[in-house]
Amino acid sequence: MPGLALVGFMGAGKSTTGPLLASRLGWPFVDLDALIEEREGASVSDLFQRLGEAGFRKAERRALLAALEQPGPLVLSTGGGTLCAEENRASLRSWGETVYLEVPLEVLALRVGAGEGRPLWSEAELRYRARQPIYESCDRRVDGRLDVAVLVEQILEDMC
Ligand code: S3P
Repeated sequence: MPGLALVGFMGAGKSTTGPLLASRLGWPFVDLDALIEEREGASVSDLFQRLGEAGFRKAERRALLAALEQPGPLVLSTGGGTLCAEENRASLRSWGETVYLEVPLEVLALRVGAGEGRPLWSEAELRYRARQPIYESCDRRVDGRLDVAVLVEQILEDMC
């Protein structure tokens, strides 16, 4: 399998689960938000402010394609909105597997502390509901409320 992408809403634990999973697999880890920031030379919040959401999504698309072009297997943590674009879903489908870290909105709100530094938290509830079917169309689903070490073992078991 060339790669595994972690999917879920802001605060679902993609960026904490990803490195641990990658190290268990002996695969590199790429955090898509971090890659966007590196490539664009600006933080996600700055990109939203400067370019608006549409501009950010273009940068996100470019970074996603760059990540998927890397040779060898990879664990990728996507941004909460990456899968909203059908073209991103198609690219990920032909690349590897997607795993949805499912966490209820109330738990996410507590974790994210009402979204400091995350530009879209104010519309969180609407977005959460709109994205649910997209997230649920992932290849696998795990309970993102589990302890991260347990979560990683579950993903590894599911992969066998
Ligand atoms: C977004 C989630 C963020 C980041 C950007 C947009 C979203 O990533 O990509 O703020 O649309 O849900 P995380 O899910 O890693 O916080």
